Amino acid sequence: MAAKLAKSNSENSSRVHRQGPFPRSSFLWGVSTSSFQIEGAAHIDGRGDSIWDTYCREQGRIKNGDNGDVACDHYHRYAEDVALMRDLGVAAYRFSVAWPRVLPRGRGAANEAGLAFYDRLIDALLAAHIEPWICLYHWDLPQALDDLGGWQNRDIAGWFADYAALVARRFGDRVKRFATFNEPCVFTLFGYGFGWNAPGIADRAALHKAIHHINLSHGAAVRVLRNSVKNASIGAIHNRQPCFPCGTDAADADAAERLSEYWNDAFPVPQHFARYPAALAEAIEPYQKPGDMAEIAQRVDWFGLNHYSPHYIKTDGNLIGATFGAPPDDVPRTAIGWTIVPGAFRDTLLDVHTRFGLPIYVLENGTAADDRLDSSGHVEDNGRIAYLKAYTDAMQEAMSGGADVRGYFVWSLLDNFEWTSGYSQRFGLIYVDFATQRRIPKASAQWYSDLIAAKRKSAALPTTGKPMGTTAADR
Ligand code: FCB
Repeated sequence: MAAKLAKSNSENSSRVHRQGPFPRSSFLWGVSTSSFQIEGAAHIDGRGDSIWDTYCREQGRIKNGDNGDVACDHYHRYAEDVALMRDLGVAAYRFSVAWPRVLPRGRGAANEAGLAFYDRLIDALLAAHIEPWICLYHWDLPQALDDLGGWQNRDIAGWFADYAALVARRFGDRVKRFATFNEPCVFTLFGYGFGWNAPGIADRAALHKAIHHINLSHGAAVRVLRNSVKNASIGAIHNRQPCFPCGTDAADADAAERLSEYWNDAFPVPQHFARYPAALAEAIEPYQKPGDMAEIAQRVDWFGLNHYSPHYIKTDGNLIGATFGAPPDDVPRTAIGWTIVPGAFRDTLLDVHTRFGLPIYVLENGTAADDRLDSSGHVEDNGRIAYLKAYTDAMQEAMSGGADVRGYFVWSLLDNFEWTSGYSQRFGLIYVDFATQRRIPKASAQWYSDLIAAKRKSAALPTTGKPMGTTAADR
């Protein structure tokens, strides 16, 4: 069975074909967010705790002791946020459902108030001609499930499938685009390998169990979504960045290769080719059962790519023998310290195209900047505009080189809770004054809106597109 799947998802797939550069008339311009980072309303209407609520309560974990209790108060201000998206002119919005909002204990009784919030959001998006893209999991695991072992407990594949079924049943009449996981490599390495993110574990067995159970959960959820939502268009969202060795010695080169297998390959390779990359295979073997790889490698419709900047890797005494080092001094960096290397984005798109042969949606790209309101009440974020321009140009180069890119979503619509950096890093096209919750579109919002309008015009599309539903070309 595994061999059959591996064949149908061949790494040199014949589905790899050349595409012209954008604008294609169906190219989707969008924005992305996630539940914990924007919703707030953490303790009302029956929402349960997530592992990030718990993590934020632990002393010293989050910059300035910030938490997600209020965030952007999107739970109450979603209508204003949808109106901002409509003004931007985006055709699609990717958000995540908070598992503990709809299933406060992670399984069992559903929370009607939580489900009703997403009904309201979805209906507002559809009324604004913005296609909703749901991601099932953007890191906010119900605390009640973590208490049972969370991703380390193999039973979670069933719990996740049941959660996917609930979401499919409730929203599948109006939502067709579903992603299972956002950046599983990040939340496993940081949450179970290095102990830097919730739930704060650094343990070899925990890391490998979590990786395998997340892959199993992905497969189970794809199966459920496929069977329950008519015309569903399904994928997963992977963060892929080239890993360059910091130094010139062989040890750093080995470390870079090893970290790359955890970062870039631990999820897409089993999900597409029904095998684990060499660096992980032995460590995962004890947790594998017959039939697992076939369950994991369900057919998907597209490859969701998040990309920001390359990693610079050195050896380390940690459990994978590799960690992040300093980039070369001459490479420019953003406010959060990530390097600006648009060519790496082009190369990553071409690599994903060649290896996986699926339509690609860029579901996150963007930059943190030191944004400030000026005396006239504007935010002139020219650095973000330069970044977005360079990266969208790099995407165009990749498309001219044959990469089948179907959409691009900026991270993020709003300044928000940036995990352990709290509210200190601003990634939004829209500035949020967290004291008043006032939203102020930055100069980059206007730039992005102009870009979308220009691309639509040159693709001879009507200004209000008809983005709803899945294009046949994706299937
Ligand atoms: C990505 C995450 C997203 C946000 C951006 C800046 O890794 O998916 O939630 O934190 O980075």
